[in-house]
Amino acid sequence: MSHDRTVAVGGAHPYHISIGPGLLEDGERLAATLRGRDAFVISDDSVAPLYMRRVVDALSGARPGLRIGHWTLPAGEASKTLDGFGRAITAIADAGMRRDATVYALGGGVVGDLAGFAAAAWMRGIDCVQLPTTLLAMVDSSVGGKTAVDLPQGKNLVGAFHPPRAVLADTATLRTLPPRELRAGLAEVVKYGAIVDAPFLDWLEAQADALLAGDDDALAEAIARSCAHKAAIVERDPFEHGERALLNFGHTFGHAIETEQGYGGLVHGEAVAVGMVQAARLSERLGLASPADTARLRSLLQRLGLPVDPPPGLDADALIAHMRLDKKAQSGGLRFIVWDGAGRARVLADVPENAVREVLRG
Ligand SMILES: NC(=O)c1ccc[n+]([C@@H]2O[C@H](COP(=O)([O-])OP(=O)(O)OC[C@H]3O[C@@H](n4cnc5c(N)ncnc54)[C@H](O)[C@@H]3O)[C@@H](O)[C@H]2O)c1
Repeated sequence: MSHDRTVAVGGAHPYHISIGPGLLEDGERLAATLRGRDAFVISDDSVAPLYMRRVVDALSGARPGLRIGHWTLPAGEASKTLDGFGRAITAIADAGMRRDATVYALGGGVVGDLAGFAAAAWMRGIDCVQLPTTLLAMVDSSVGGKTAVDLPQGKNLVGAFHPPRAVLADTATLRTLPPRELRAGLAEVVKYGAIVDAPFLDWLEAQADALLAGDDDALAEAIARSCAHKAAIVERDPFEHGERALLNFGHTFGHAIETEQGYGGLVHGEAVAVGMVQAARLSERLGLASPADTARLRSLLQRLGLPVDPPPGLDADALIAHMRLDKKAQSGGLRFIVWDGAGRARVLADVPENAVREVLRG
């Protein structure tokens, strides 16, 4: 495992993010965080046929006598519901998982968010180890402890902060990831450059082809650098009272699109790509950043094969109605993450709805 990279996340509940190929086969690493003798692996029906047996075998090989249960949900955002949460809890209960059990979340952000929330709620909170298998989950959702499910009224409206005990990102799993999902993950990678690290955008521009081709070194570097940013931000602001909100750059627009499309149109990372360009255009409109900044962001996302314009046919007022319910909105009015150009994002409250409407209408 000499090629592994490790990122430490500090704070009240410190843990490590391990990044490298083959981690799902490393029983000792998987079992090192176990406190008791119960493990429960949650995955989805695309990931489980590929990797569930590997994880179960590695864990039981490392800890003979371990009681292991597992449960699989249908793949996709449509499973991240209160109903899915209820079924996960029922499966954990049926398996007789005790207070010192560990939930292993094996999959993308949907599995990570739902399994993390189930772990947060079962017996008022048991351990969760995140085993992300999408690029998006490796660079974003598995780190930082946000767990949630969606409601028809909006995304991630019910959930809990529940930091993982460890994150093991097996980069070999990215080889089976559909290209569309790889590209969606790259949107969240670009986000770190946009909000806090302008030189990272230069690097991404130079490495775009390698990343799209699935080059192991380029992907591992992108993951490690993204995780280092996320770790630093959540360590300083674990409950999103301030700086952590910057990680939502593009998300107010993106979540509104996902909700309006009934979670069956753009996938999350694609919606974030569109949303970041809209956030840049909004910043431009408010006189904060230059058109050249928007053009640069737009062109990098396009090179990475991502959408940059809202899907046709979406009503601007319907999107704004979703934004009012977005968790980032507060009682005073619409709140957005805007930027003053590459690497310089900030929170802006009381953004006039008209400015948003004009951006949405192009
Ligand atoms: N908690 C957070 O901080 C946070 C941050 C960002 C995003 N999210 C959430 O993450 C979710 C999106 O996550 P996602 O983009 O990973 O989507 P996802 O979990 O739906 O995974 C995308 C698809 O890829 C498949 N898949 C996953 N890994 C695979 C592999 N290695 N090989 C083959 N197929 C594989 C899945 O079955 C699914 O069909 C959204 O619900 C979003 O709200 C949460």
